[in-house]
Amino acid sequence: MASKEKYQELDKRHREAEMGGGAERIAKIHASGRKTARERISDLLDPETFVEIDKLVVHRNTEFGMDKQKIPGDGIVTGYGKIDGRLMYVFAQDFSVFGGTLSRANADKIIKVQELSMKMGAPLIGLNDSGGARIQEGVESLAGYADIFFRNVQASGVVPQISAILGPCAGGAVYSPALTDFIFMTKETSYMFVTGPDVIKAVTHEEVTKSELGGAMTHNSKSGVAHFRAEDDEQAMMMIRELIGFLPSNNMEDPPVKPCTDSAHRADEKLQQIVPDDPNKAYDIKDIIHSVVDDHNFFEVQPHYAPNIAIGFGRLNGKPVGFVANQPAALAGVLDIDGSVKAARFVRFCDAFNIPIVTFTDVPGFLPGTAQEFGGIIKHGAKLIYAYAEATVPKINVITRKAYGGAYCVMSSKHLGGDVNYAYAGAEIAVMGPEGAVNILYRNKSDEEKAQAITEYRDRLCTPYKAAGLGYIDEVIHPRNTRLKLIQALEMTENKRENRPPKKHGNLPL
Ligand code: HXC
Repeated sequence: MASKEKYQELDKRHREAEMGGGAERIAKIHASGRKTARERISDLLDPETFVEIDKLVVHRNTEFGMDKQKIPGDGIVTGYGKIDGRLMYVFAQDFSVFGGTLSRANADKIIKVQELSMKMGAPLIGLNDSGGARIQEGVESLAGYADIFFRNVQASGVVPQISAILGPCAGGAVYSPALTDFIFMTKETSYMFVTGPDVIKAVTHEEVTKSELGGAMTHNSKSGVAHFRAEDDEQAMMMIRELIGFLPSNNMEDPPVKPCTDSAHRADEKLQQIVPDDPNKAYDIKDIIHSVVDDHNFFEVQPHYAPNIAIGFGRLNGKPVGFVANQPAALAGVLDIDGSVKAARFVRFCDAFNIPIVTFTDVPGFLPGTAQEFGGIIKHGAKLIYAYAEATVPKINVITRKAYGGAYCVMSSKHLGGDVNYAYAGAEIAVMGPEGAVNILYRNKSDEEKAQAITEYRDRLCTPYKAAGLGYIDEVIHPRNTRLKLIQALEMTENKRENRPPKKHGNLPL
């Protein structure tokens, strides 16, 4: 072949790969409100930074006439590029080719970027849009999934792994995302389920729509499988870029520092009034977080799930921190099963990736009730204790109001290794609230005696001063100074070194 023809052949193969399943199928994808794999990658990465690898890979299957249907790339686009100048690995399933399903060749492409991301210490972002295992390939496809899961687990805690669900994802296509750190879904166009509505109807006779079963809101608010809900593909890509901005590229790095123009000394008078005098009145803990973070920018994680605890990222004096905060505006901020698991997983993520944890405590206790007890609040609440005790990153705590009972112990207390523990002057730290305590201690007394005992209990025990007198609280502070106090604590703990006894791994109460 003359050299001109050789290069024409190369260009032709590239064009074939870029056309995926063809114009008709691409039009169908667009009509459904989705973008193609390549369009998504281009929205995700810095312009002109994407380098594709394995573009000409084809499947090796010969069953069901598949040997006559080979499309270069085989339904997945893989490679690397940059976000804000930082190296990222990416794979994007191409629904226009065999419904983005997983063949052996397709799995090997994902595995290659998984291994590169671990070797080079850069995050891996998976853009999922797939019908799951490619039926024609049988066990080879299942093996491909299991090989991917194995590497998801190896990479866990080594590099951040982020998944976006951008179309129907069934079967194996949901389990790899479930092993990653964060899952994004799009509002109207993404679904995740292990078995779809038809199988459910046949087996259990339940009737459920695709969206009720596995739509974005189901997984963002009910199951807790997903962490973020975006309007559409484009917004999902923007949100991933924003999230990446808070994360280090791997577990050996510190998270990226940004120049900060927001003064560390910025006090906020509004905070003096933010916690109501009436202990039964609610307020929004996120108002405190928004007040203290750099430029008031708080990137909340799982905002729709277990709203009684708020988690997310922000910066203090340019440095990323993870916030965990009881939310008095939802269920009075109690700790329940969902809230404990949500916070525990976040604490463990921050700890794995060197992100200091700032905790705001205002919690009346654990949620009572048979639903919680039968559901295993004991083991799920234990997850949060475990996560805080295990974490060796800087742990800073501010008790804004209530820290009662077990919940005092759980929420980053000094005793679980809190490095700096603050309390507002109005904090109430005790075994339980005054009413509950008096009903136990003065069960047979008159109402007047009880009322007097409640006042006495509140004045003597429900203050931060007993804990401060014992050194369990390092400093009782004015709310207006919270930002400065947090920044001082983070500076003091910057070079923290803490070792745990060597072991294979612990046994988290699952
Ligand atoms: C091969 C598949 C396929 C599959 C879809 N296609 N799923 N090909 N294997 N698993 C093909 C279709 O034949 C079609 O090809 C194209 O992809 C687009 O699919 P449509 O059905 O036309 O699209 P849509 O109506 O949008 O529905 C998408 C879908 C549906 C919801 C994903 O296709 C579906 O339910 N597929 C089956 C899902 C599933 O059960 N997968 C196996 C899970 S088991 P043409 O040529 O017509 O365009 C699994 C095991 C791993 O994954 C478990 C590990 C723990």
